[in-house]
Parts: sequence; C-alpha cells; structure tokens
Amino acid sequence: MVQFPAGFVWGASTAAYQIEGAVDEDGRGRSIWDTFSHTPGAIADGTTGDVATDHYHRTEQDVALMADIGLSAYRFSIAWPRVVPNGSGAVNQAGLDFYSRLVDQLLERSISPIVTLYHWDLPQALQDVGGWTNRDTIRRFAEYAAIVAGALGDRVATFTTLNEPWCSAFLGYGTGTHAPGIADNATALLTAHHLLLAHGWGVAALRAALPSSAQVSITLNLTVPRPATPSDTDATRHVDAISNRMFLDPIRHGRYPADLLVDTLHVSDWAFVRDGDLEAIAAPIDFLGVNYYMPTRIAAPSDDLAARPDASRWPGTDLAYEVPEPGQHTAMNWLVDPASLTELLLRLNRECPGLPLVITENGAAFDDVVEVSGEIHDIERIDYLREHVGAVHAAIEEGADVRGYIVWTLLDNFEWSFGTSKRFGLVHVDYDTLERRPKDSARWYHDVIAANGL
Ligand code: FCB
Repeated sequence: MVQFPAGFVWGASTAAYQIEGAVDEDGRGRSIWDTFSHTPGAIADGTTGDVATDHYHRTEQDVALMADIGLSAYRFSIAWPRVVPNGSGAVNQAGLDFYSRLVDQLLERSISPIVTLYHWDLPQALQDVGGWTNRDTIRRFAEYAAIVAGALGDRVATFTTLNEPWCSAFLGYGTGTHAPGIADNATALLTAHHLLLAHGWGVAALRAALPSSAQVSITLNLTVPRPATPSDTDATRHVDAISNRMFLDPIRHGRYPADLLVDTLHVSDWAFVRDGDLEAIAAPIDFLGVNYYMPTRIAAPSDDLAARPDASRWPGTDLAYEVPEPGQHTAMNWLVDPASLTELLLRLNRECPGLPLVITENGAAFDDVVEVSGEIHDIERIDYLREHVGAVHAAIEEGADVRGYIVWTLLDNFEWSFGTSKRFGLVHVDYDTLERRPKDSARWYHDVIAANGL
C-alpha cells in the first residue's frame, strides 16, 4: 500500500480556452487563441475553442462530476478577456460573476479552487499593440491580477500567476506553433523575460490585494533532458539552461544562468533586462507548481538530424535537437517514463530547498474507445496515472516536499494546436452532443483519493 501524507491534495486541472466555449457571450473580448485557432492550418484538425466542451453553460454538471470523483481541489484558469475584454480599461462584471459563481459551487462541494491567472489566452487588443513583446502588457497583467484578487480573494486561497511561461514564449514566439504564431528566437527570449516579470509584478499585485494567508505560486513545465549519446552532454546542458534554469534561477535567485547568456549571444544581447527586473521576478512564492509529462532525449545539431523527420530543433536557438527515445508512447507521442518524474522532484528538492512542490499537471492522451455500452476502459491512462502517482510517492519517501497531485485533465478538451483530436480527460466528451461520460480512470482516481494512496 502506497500511502500519502495526511492533507495531500488530489485535484484535476483545466484551462479556460480549452473548455469554456461561449467565446462571444456576456461581454467576453477576443483572445489570441480565438485569432490563432481561426487561422487556416494552425490547428491540426481544424477545430477551434468556440464551443470546446461548453463548460461555460455546464458548470454545475461539471462541478458535480468533480464531486463524484472526490476531488479535494480544482485548478482552473480565468480568461483574462472575459474579465478585462480589451486587456486594460473597463472591467466586465459578468465575466467576474461567472468565476465567482464557479468558486461558490466548488466551495459548496468542499473542493478548493486553485486559480491560474494566465493560461495563454492574452486579450487580442493587447496583442495588437505587441503582446508580450511590449512592457506595457506586464503592467496590464498586474492590474488584471489585482482585479481578480479583489473579486475572488475572499474565497480563493491559492493563486498561480502563469501557466508554463516556457510555452507562451517559446511556442508562441519561438516556433510559432501556439498563439500568436510568431517564429523568432530573439523575440522568444524577450517575451520569456517579460512573462517572468509579469509573474513578479503579478505576485506583488496579488500580495497587496490578498489576505496574508493566501498561497501564491507559478507553474512551470520543467523537462528532464537526457543526452542521446555521450557527445550530446553539452547540448543537454543547453536545453536544461534554456528550458529549466532560465525560469528557475531568476525566480529563486534573481539571476539568469551565466551559461544561457553565453549560449544565446548569437540571438540576443539581453538588453531588455532592466534595473530592478530580476529583483521583482525573485519575489518569494509559497510553492512551485510543476507540470510534468515526459523526459526529452537531446542531441547536438548535425546535418543528419536536420534532415531527419523524427528529430526536431529545440526551440529558442539552433543548439540542440530532440530525438525519439524507444519505449511506450502516448497518443501525443510522448514517452511514458515515470522514473523521470521522481528524478525531477528530487532535483527540485535539492536545488530549491524550502520550496514546497505541487504537481499541477500530469496525465496522458490515448485514443479512447467508447464501447457499445457507453463505457470507456482507458487502461493505458490508468497505468500512466498509477505509475506517475507512484513516482511522486517515491520522491516523497526520499524527502521531496510534494503537497499535491493534480491530474491533467478533468474533461477531454481543445488540446491547443492538436484541436479536439487528443483526449486527456478523466471524463469523455462527445463533441457532437457534449455529453460527459466518466472513463474508468475517473473511477480509479476516485478510489485513489478515497484511500489517499494506491
Ligand atoms: C500543458 C498545458 C495544458 C495541456 C497539457 C497537455 O502544456 O498546460 O493546457 O495542453 O499540456
């Protein structure tokens, strides 16, 4: 029997644009994901988040599903353009009311809300004046953080500033595979810095508006880079610098990694870092949110790799490639490797002493089959989750201070550039009828929560 510490948080996670739909209702403004998903060719299956899972109209039903699973926490994000439709200026009370009702419904069911302020849906009006390349957006984010804290801070105890700023910067501005679809390495570095500063100023805005008991955090997607061969160790170090330490070091120590500044000299002079920025980014946080899915196998660039369709350039520079690793893969083609999660948590425990950790996302997409009976026997997802929950437990046994585990995700949803083609949910969604059906994994998770262990 694998038993978790008393009070361990068991949750499920979602993000506004992936589930809400209702993109034109009750005064919501447009976001960069509305624009991007309607750009021909941007989304693999041509779908958009216009309806998504229609959660906006089905909140009660969805909260009841959470209660049936027995969740102790629900991590969701606020759509900035629902609250401040133009990114700055007028506040849309109807948008705040929607989230306020959701919070009340959660609390009635004893489910703790964990609110993420930014899960990638920047108001389009801010993109029109430069988006995250414009320092003014940082100021707007801090204003928006204060508005949300003012409206929900009396009932929400836990706030996260940003979800995965690496993705916003390097997929949004580096590879262009996410909104706003810009592909320029120098811009990716600039926006990564601005996002980190938005986190710092966001923390300050939240602290000013919230009771001192509030928990404030950021969620990072950290990777476990492994060299494909012994001659790939420097490329692996580079990936660690540009994906992990670029975020961890300023947040923890108020500086960027020296090796990253050297690596990126051909891309940027980093003149965008101004006096006071790093001190602001290093504002103390109460825990670190960790999103984890798979390790990465890294190779140094070569002409061979450049020509190989199964190898991809690591975003941000031309100094590393990601190559496939043998083993079981999910429908995203992500390697299943639970031991790497233990490794990451122990590393964080060593390098960030005193900083509690919460797994804010972990889960897997598989090609689920709905039986004639309506059941979904998602054995592979159960195996993935069981092994990763076990990996978290192993890290706790070895001393890591992990306070919670939050599954990605409650419902099948709009999986960004993959559209609705990838299903990560504990609950199946039929996109024709929008009917919800708990998968076997939902029942399995219910039992894990009830036992507080495996
Ligand atoms: C993470 C995102 C989340 C979801 C999962 C699969 O990078 O934060 O919205 O797309 O991946």
